[in-house]
Amino acid sequence: MILKIVKYPEPVLSQPGEPVTEFNAELKKLAADMFETTYASQGVGLAAPQVGVSKLLTVIDLSMGKDPKDKLVLVNPEIISSEGRLYEEEGCLSFPEIKEKVVRAAKVRIRAQDLNGKWFEMDGDDLLARCMQHEIDHLAGMLFIFRMSGLKRDLTLRKIRKLQREGKW
Ligand code: NI
Repeated sequence: MILKIVKYPEPVLSQPGEPVTEFNAELKKLAADMFETTYASQGVGLAAPQVGVSKLLTVIDLSMGKDPKDKLVLVNPEIISSEGRLYEEEGCLSFPEIKEKVVRAAKVRIRAQDLNGKWFEMDGDDLLARCMQHEIDHLAGMLFIFRMSGLKRDLTLRKIRKLQREGKW
């Protein structure tokens, strides 16, 4: 089922999510629906707060549905180490048509649970590292515009207000 993606400044996007404690069929269905929603929007990742669910759950798939091996579900994830810096363009499904350069660590190691509650650790670099950091940020209520420089953030917020006035947001 394709879910509705909420846009900035919906309050749920700025709230820290609740830890997931039950690894049941409902959680698996939510993750499956989040993948479907991501693909329908041509995205590479989606966090539960973006579909209005304030939980520590995110899905990532850099292949955009083309390679099942790339499907990644992170439950209660945290970044345990990071290194390097990359300044690259980034977007977010809750900010349609906004793309800006954001500084992120070049490599991260994360710890998370899978849909059965099993803990695992995983490394990511380049785009995967960027995506992991972007999605894990979402779970803390942190949005990518607040990772932009002050000037870029102001310009972006002005652009959003203009789109809102025109009824295009
Ligand atoms: Ni996002």
